Amino acid sequence: MKVIVKKTTEQMSREAAQIFADLIRQKPNCVLGLATGGTPVKMYQELIRMHKEEGLDFSKVITFNLDEYLGLPGDHDQSYRYFMNDNLFNHINIKKENTFVLNGTAKDPKLYCEGYEMLIKALGGIDIQLLGIGGNGHIAFNEPGSPENSRTRIVDLTKETIAANSDGRFFKDPKDVPTQALSMGVATIMEARKVVLIANKSSKADAIVKTVEGRVSVDVPASFLQKHKDSVVIVDEDAASKLSKTYA
Ligand code: F6R
Repeated sequence: MKVIVKKTTEQMSREAAQIFADLIRQKPNCVLGLATGGTPVKMYQELIRMHKEEGLDFSKVITFNLDEYLGLPGDHDQSYRYFMNDNLFNHINIKKENTFVLNGTAKDPKLYCEGYEMLIKALGGIDIQLLGIGGNGHIAFNEPGSPENSRTRIVDLTKETIAANSDGRFFKDPKDVPTQALSMGVATIMEARKVVLIANKSSKADAIVKTVEGRVSVDVPASFLQKHKDSVVIVDEDAASKLSKTYA
């Protein structure tokens, strides 16, 4: 696991965007795994800037998102489909039909999740997967206790995650947050050829030290990334504040 510590959120975001841009230039039809939430917003802004100012071309890029709230249609302003359109896809030259976000209103969600896994494989597998991290160490919506062999499925959200997503940034009231989601599993994420996890703010410092320096455990799903052959953790100084070793 490679760890990169940057002074600011902006630098963390630029570092991560650069890794994605390098791949897109080298392999124009690459398959990207994307995340939502507060953490990647500035990274997406940087990719939009690179598209507009440097001609970064997304016309052949394929994307798969990590997760979606169960029951929310894609046009709901808190759905992850809406978030992705609003924060990235509407501002670059990606073909919408090449962007896959789990459908929260699928008729048979279990079957639908199996189909999502098959589609990822059929399109060649994910080249780079972007991840944020929950304060409890979750990746995608794989909450503590999620097994290493888990795949895309219906999951229950913890009270902590529901609270974190209704702190005023996203949903206004915890009662409005769906209690379940569709989420890629730990095994789905581990199959990506490269994984980039980004984290900023001191609220992530505990989760980051457990992920990077703790033992691998289902109690901290992100710790499984220690076993990945090409995982990179990019953090700002606040998220890095509890690390005991010095990283570049
Ligand atoms: C989002 C996702 C989640 C978030 C995590 C951190 O697609 O999979 O695991 O990455 O909850 O969220 P923020 O970035 O809002 O702190």
